[in-house]
Order: sequence, then C-alpha cells, then structure tokens
Amino acid sequence: MHVAIIMDGNGRWAQQRGLPRTAGHMEGARAVHKTVEAAARSGIQTLTLYAFSADNWGRPRSEVTSLMKLFRRYLASETQRCIEQSIRISVIGRRDRLDADLCRAIEESERATATGCGMHLRIAVDYSARHSILLAARMSGATAVGLDDFKSLLNLVNHSSMDSEYVDLLIRTGGEQRLSDFLLWESAYAELYFCDRLWPDFGEADFQQALSEFGCRQRRFGKVTPLPATLEVQA
Ligand code: IPE
Ligand code: IPE
Ligand code: MG
Repeated sequence: MHVAIIMDGNGRWAQQRGLPRTAGHMEGARAVHKTVEAAARSGIQTLTLYAFSADNWGRPRSEVTSLMKLFRRYLASETQRCIEQSIRISVIGRRDRLDADLCRAIEESERATATGCGMHLRIAVDYSARHSILLAARMSGATAVGLDDFKSLLNLVNHSSMDSEYVDLLIRTGGEQRLSDFLLWESAYAELYFCDRLWPDFGEADFQQALSEFGCRQRRFGKVTPLPATLEVQA
C-alpha cells in the first residue's frame, strides 16, 4: 500500500500562536517523525511525503533557507533510525537547484539506507508533478511507451530508486482540498482524504483514522462492483 501525504498547515499553526512560520515548520518536522514511525508500524510499503514544492521557492528567502536547513537536519538525525528500522529513503524531485552540500547529504542517506527492505520512505523536495511528467515524456522520445514503462521513467526522473506503485491513499492536512502539483500521474485512482488538522498537530490517531476510512472505501477502478447477493436476488 502506498500512502502519500501533503503536509500542509505549518504556517497557520505558527500564526495561531503568534510565532514565526518557521516555528511551525520545526514542529512539522516532529510530526514527520511520528508519522513515519506510525506508517512503518502499520505495515505501509511506501510513504511519500510532500516536503517542499517547486513553487515553494517563491516564499520569502528566510523561510526557504530555514526549510532547507530543517530538511538537512532531518536527514542527519533520522537516517540512523531508518537504517535500524530497515526503512529505505529516497528523495524525489529536482536536484539541480539544491545546494551541493544538501545533495551530498541526500545521496549519503539514500546510500546508507539502500538495503532497507522495510518501508520505502520517499520525501518530495523541489517537486513538481507537471515537471516530472514533462521530463519523463521528453525522455520517452518518439517511441511508443506503455503505461508501466512511463511509470518507470517517472521514477527515474524523480530519483526514486525503485519502482513504486500508484498511490492508494492521498492525505492532505490543513483543510485545503487541492493537489498543489503533487503526484498527479501516480494518484490517478488514489483515494483522497482531506483533514482539517494542521500538519504539526497530525498524530498517530489521525493517521489511523485515515487508514480506517480508506478501509471503508469501495475502489472500482472504472469497473462495476457486483451487487451483494441479497440484492442480486431482488433484481
Ligand atoms: C506546509 O505548510 C509546509 C510547506 C509547504 C513547506 P505551509 O507552510 O504551507 O503552511 P500554511 O498552509 O501556510 O499554513
Ligand atoms: C503544498 O502546500 C506543498 C507542501 C505541502 C510541501 P502549499 O501550501 O505550498 O500549497 P498551496 O499554495 O496551498 O496550494
Ligand atoms: Mg500551505
């Protein structure tokens, strides 16, 4: 099962407390830690977290710098824990606009966790689904590629070191109901779950709530679900 999360609401969490937005991002990093643990415990195979979108470069310089620092700190503090828990880390998105130091830290975390056979943790940084699709389309050239080949190309351009399946459950916190250029292709049949909780307040109970609602959804993938036996008799 592949769960993807748009971790939104850090800024509002801070503003509600009269704190700078960066304080919300710091608290958000703690929620990331808790959610990764919860997902691993729940047996999720792939967890993709939206940490920084390509459009987030448009935020004030100081906020961008602090987000990048937090991300670096996260890799430094969590890589060892991921190794211990057999969690494999991939960072998806563009690398050409990140600091060389940060790129090295990313590569190091990916290398150190590469043999992890538990959950695959994908962190989206400088990510834009439209940009990824464009790159994959360019790479496919004139040749007629099938859906699976295209998915592999997407993983390649995203630096996602192994093939990951389509998203099953897409969670967005913070009350907004939009995708903000996240995993547009991979979420073709994702179940969408929007919750009002601001990301820093999101905890294990919220994650379990999302999973349990997912368990009640009926996925049809365009097909017709057979009617329950009793109704069939009536029809
Ligand atoms: C999500 O929280 C974190 C990032 C986008 C990096 P926001 O910073 O977007 O928080 P709000 O939406 O302004 O509350
Ligand atoms: C999406 O949140 C990006 C991340 C959570 C990293 P935004 O806060 O940037 O999205 P919009 O601007 O509300 O669409
Ligand atoms: Mg936001």
